[in-house]
Amino acid sequence: MSINLAVCVAVGVLLIAIATAEDPYRFFDWNVTYGDIYPLGVRQQGILINGQFPGPTIHSVTNDNLIINVINSLDEPFLISWNGIQQRRNSFEDGVYGTTCPIPPGKNFTYIMQVKDQIGSFYYFPSLGFHKAAGGFGAIRILSRPRIPVPFDEPADDFTVLIGDWYKSNHTDLKAILDRGHKLPNPDGILINGHGPNGSTFTVEQGKTYRLRISNVGLQNSLNFRIQNHRMKLVEVEGTHTVQQMYSSLDIHCGQSYSVLITADQPGQDYFIVVSSRFSAPILTTTGVLHYTNSAGKVSGPIPGGPTIQVDWSLNQARSIRSNLTASGPRPNPQGSYHYGMINTSRTIIIQSSAGRVDGKQRYGLNGVSFKPADTPLKLADYFNIGGFRVGSISDRPQGRRLHLDTAVMGADYRTFIEIVFQNPEDIVQSYHIDGYQFFVVGMDGGVWSEGSRKGYNLHDGVARSTIQVYPKSWSALYVPLDNVGMWNVRTEFWARQYLGQQFYLRVYTNSGSIRDEFPIPKNARLCGRAAGRHTRPL
Ligand SMILES: *[C@@H]1O[C@H](CO)[C@@H](O)[C@H](O)[C@H]1NC(C)=O
Ligand SMILES: *[C@@H]1O[C@H](CO)[C@@H](O)[C@H](O)[C@H]1NC(C)=O
Ligand SMILES: *[C@@H]1O[C@H](CO)[C@@H](O)[C@H](O)[C@H]1NC(C)=O
Ligand SMILES: *[C@@H]1O[C@H](CO)[C@@H](O)[C@H](O)[C@H]1NC(C)=O
Ligand SMILES: *[C@@H]1O[C@H](CO)[C@@H](O)[C@H](O)[C@H]1NC(C)=O
Ligand SMILES: *[C@@H]1O[C@H](CO)[C@@H](O)[C@H](O)[C@H]1NC(C)=O
Repeated sequence: MSINLAVCVAVGVLLIAIATAEDPYRFFDWNVTYGDIYPLGVRQQGILINGQFPGPTIHSVTNDNLIINVINSLDEPFLISWNGIQQRRNSFEDGVYGTTCPIPPGKNFTYIMQVKDQIGSFYYFPSLGFHKAAGGFGAIRILSRPRIPVPFDEPADDFTVLIGDWYKSNHTDLKAILDRGHKLPNPDGILINGHGPNGSTFTVEQGKTYRLRISNVGLQNSLNFRIQNHRMKLVEVEGTHTVQQMYSSLDIHCGQSYSVLITADQPGQDYFIVVSSRFSAPILTTTGVLHYTNSAGKVSGPIPGGPTIQVDWSLNQARSIRSNLTASGPRPNPQGSYHYGMINTSRTIIIQSSAGRVDGKQRYGLNGVSFKPADTPLKLADYFNIGGFRVGSISDRPQGRRLHLDTAVMGADYRTFIEIVFQNPEDIVQSYHIDGYQFFVVGMDGGVWSEGSRKGYNLHDGVARSTIQVYPKSWSALYVPLDNVGMWNVRTEFWARQYLGQQFYLRVYTNSGSIRDEFPIPKNARLCGRAAGRHTRPL
């Protein structure tokens, strides 16, 4: 019996509760190991998935059931999370420490999840410790179902482009620096699909059009992406088809994903693909190669420059990115049929970042709280009524008091429609991700948000996405339909800050107890901490 078939039979029993019969299944077996990689020329222990760095791309179609058996062959606990996958009614599978027990060394865990009502470009990543600095990430594509129109012609090919800053130090050394209470040094370089300068090549045929799915899987730097002599047509942002506009370069902040179309309309030769860091000193730059099949020569000329520290340029670009209201999303009805601007919000949450020292160690927080993990994943503690956290341990507004440690959980009612404002008083660019949701980006601007800021909101065609940047000394505002019950991680994508406490959990709750609102705990859920020894099915 093949491994796939074995897993198929084994998990078949588990699926009945959650999966709808007509939606297809895709099975994956992933062996997670350490292996040598040399992305910046020096040998490093990378985290490989089935021997690959970056990991394999997940190809899927709206509503597919993904059955992913992750075998942890590392010598320490491991978990994968799924950036942008909504895990509808199913936060148990989210794969962050607040929802899912780590997979012990030598053990496995089979994620059973559905890419319900989603399309677009996303990625997965290892969520524990500082594993993300060693690899273990890869792309996720969710294609539209065959009968749902896509608002552009089928491209000649579709490329995954994972970009991100990178350290020559390994993840244990980086984590040790943070554990000792220090900040990390600047990253050493930038990778494209796991390669350093000129290491990755994308081959195109003259006259044809290609889709690039670009995700910033890095640890802290906002990155600018551009291609020598070529312009990019932006078509999709984290599951939303955008108004198709041309850009000569694109800012992609930590954790964000963009799809662009490029046409190979230049003389047949090779061209630089350039990725450089934004708002950083020094500016890190790397290159890849766009290779024409009829190429007459190697890349030449100066590497095209891009924006470096200009904030207004980036802000204006961000505001120009809008949703194509007549295009279909995952369903045949146009994206614009959900009039988010006509719904009254019932609550405003203002989240302000801060940095400080607690007990002599560097920490980061949101609304004065620096997140401290509990001994048991919060979702499990909640399910088994174990306690260990307090709903309301982070407030709706910034607090005057000093940064303190707590297991920050904010409560919210299912089916409410809320406004979240991220306020950034610092000099860095922030990037925030909310698990379990796509939210509408209604505004961003410099200064301190006030109720008057609402006058400038885009209540018409803002994009729905899951990761939003906040410029230095600026704010970004979102409308969030809380239509997904669960325990959801809200975090900065600036990974050292996330590790040192700049995150919390949003507990979206209903007392209905109905599986129409939330699936029961998976029967194969690993149980750890004070949930160890409990039962995942009623006795
Ligand atoms: C995972 O990979 C390691 C290293 O190649 C190998 O020793 C091990 O047998 C593999 N495990 C499984 C379950 O395939
Ligand atoms: C990281 O590097 C240190 C030496 O700097 C080494 O002791 C440690 O084993 C390495 N860890 C990994 C996971 O490669
Ligand atoms: C581990 O994999 C086996 C099949 O190889 C499967 O039966 C089992 O449910 C998996 N364990 C978990 C916790 O998912
Ligand atoms: C490789 O990339 C560097 C910059 O990233 C560039 O200066 C150099 O010309 C490239 N070399 C080749 C052979 O393409
Ligand atoms: C918007 O989507 C429609 C498909 O409904 C498409 O025909 C049109 O070209 C798109 N417009 C823009 C500006 O992207
Ligand atoms: C939203 O609030 C306004 C002002 O309070 C009210 O007039 C309007 O009817 C409300 N709209 C909806 C859809 O509830």
